[in-house]
Amino acid sequence: MCGIVGYVGDRPAGGRPLEVAMGGLARLEYRGYDSAGVAVITGNGDGLATAKKAGKLKNLAALLEADPLPAGTASIGHTRWATHGAPNDVNAHPHLSEDGALAVIHNGIVENFASLREELVGAGVALTSETDTEVVAHLVSRAYDDGKDLTDAVRTVALRLRGTFTILAVHADSPRTVVGARHDSPLVVGLGEGENFLGSDVAAFIAHTKEAMELGQDQVVTITPTSVDVVDFAGNPVEAKRYTVTWDAAAAEKGGFATFMDKEIHDQPKAVADTLLGRTDDAGRLRLDEVHVDEAVLRQVDKIIVVACGTAAYAGQVARYAIEHWCRIPVEVELAHEFRYRDPIVDARTLVVAVSQSGETMDTLMAVRHAKEQGATVLAIVNTHGSTIPREADAVLYTHAGPEIAVASTKAFLAQITAAYLLGLYLAQLRGTKFTDEITDVLDDLRGIPEKIQRVIDGAGRVREIAGWMADTSSVLFLGRHVGYPVAMEGALKLKELAYIHAEGFAAGELKHGPIALIEPGQPVFIIVPSPRGRDSLHSKVISNIQEIRARGARTLVIAEEGDDDVLPFADEVFRVPQTPVLLAPLVSVVPLQIFACELATARGLDVDQPRNLAKSVTVE
Ligand code: F6R
Repeated sequence: MCGIVGYVGDRPAGGRPLEVAMGGLARLEYRGYDSAGVAVITGNGDGLATAKKAGKLKNLAALLEADPLPAGTASIGHTRWATHGAPNDVNAHPHLSEDGALAVIHNGIVENFASLREELVGAGVALTSETDTEVVAHLVSRAYDDGKDLTDAVRTVALRLRGTFTILAVHADSPRTVVGARHDSPLVVGLGEGENFLGSDVAAFIAHTKEAMELGQDQVVTITPTSVDVVDFAGNPVEAKRYTVTWDAAAAEKGGFATFMDKEIHDQPKAVADTLLGRTDDAGRLRLDEVHVDEAVLRQVDKIIVVACGTAAYAGQVARYAIEHWCRIPVEVELAHEFRYRDPIVDARTLVVAVSQSGETMDTLMAVRHAKEQGATVLAIVNTHGSTIPREADAVLYTHAGPEIAVASTKAFLAQITAAYLLGLYLAQLRGTKFTDEITDVLDDLRGIPEKIQRVIDGAGRVREIAGWMADTSSVLFLGRHVGYPVAMEGALKLKELAYIHAEGFAAGELKHGPIALIEPGQPVFIIVPSPRGRDSLHSKVISNIQEIRARGARTLVIAEEGDDDVLPFADEVFRVPQTPVLLAPLVSVVPLQIFACELATARGLDVDQPRNLAKSVTVE
């Protein structure tokens, strides 16, 4: 939510600061696209120059084309997901001090902004926007004018702010310095040769360097071309942790696909394969080296609670069936934003698993903190290195999906399910609830999944065709049972967020308890049919559900295994997926639904990578 980039370099003027800021913003635009803006320290006595524009980054690019900014020595850039104030030019960041010498950008919400604003108005400051950020700009400027250096000015203001924030500030008097501060909002440092970077995530600077540095909670960082200094909010120096980013800039490019979403759907076989990679020892036993939790603690776990939001929560719901089956531990899946408000029963024997692609989702972070306060062990399943949730959790199991740029999650979802399966198998191995050869068999089945996903993608011509014809559809329902139920909900979520049409996922068995009233002639309904080789009754029950809705005129779009001919008499369309063990089937059965949503939204002329009102990383509660 809001993308932030900062740059300072000792290269001769030549547009590099602006170029780095714009390039970083292009890679961060998925974090918010209500407006975009940049500020450049010109460093040649002209001070500070800014440009900002409502709407997507291309609007700012057009403005800069028509009215270029001077070359400079340092830059900051911002792409906004609006919180305070409408998404117009005035509310776009950067925000400036009254003398125009200082610029600030901000991600998050300053909760005490009303009282701070009152204080400034009382002191005669003229505010021009409706944002909380402008308040920060004036406060930092006043602290600076009182004689503090830029770092200290930012630090002392940070101490006064309530809520969540990442702030970057530049001042015309310090042409080779950018200062950043973070509290409950992301900020990472990129380390270059004679240049340094700041970003909401590494995508901001991955085109220039893979060397990065994590910042902890409540820290202030000052970058110059040759130095990176970190202090805590009390001003004490802090040693920050360095790391090397494992993917390169090409991974965050479209690579010939029309959209990031289509590319990321095609990345899925690799995302699953990479998440499985290197997780067994020579004897074939599972080894989750990153999970630094005492084995005795894991053996004693008597309850698992998965906390997550949206698609990540559906990944948890899928994994729940497998983990309970393999480990015989009760698993609850809770939307992270509901978790701490219901006074959950959590203690030292509870394992809380926080699932998050970004590792920054505020709701999930708050659930992690609450679980820790209650004495639970917290394990994070996260895709983004350097993010906050893994830092605060007791342990982390990284997914290796690579950067996910499209706002709607696809490859991260499959990687999350895969990692959660690994966790379930690991616990089963540790607790002896499954024999080693059974675990080995499941691991072998998992290793066969990437090839099956590839087959679904390669054979998706008919899904794409049907989606193209259904551009005018106003409602689609999705039905599933058992592991197919969260798949149905994920299929509906993808369609809602991408195509903006009514879509709902139901447990097929629930149909007769109300939702069947929605069925009228022509109503399209996707049904995820479980394998006939699984539990017999499950398969036949879903076939009965298809008959029930078909009898009432529904148009049945059936996802069924190759060779399952029982579905044929009742299906208007059949989309085939390879035969897959029941518990692992979501990894293949969700793929046609992702493709369907992507194609239908494209047929409606919508931007599938940046759906309206959304942002990739939801860093406010
Ligand atoms: C939907 C989607 C969201 C995210 C949710 C959690 O396509 O992407 O529902 O899954 O906002 O985000 P993370 O996984 O970053 O915590």
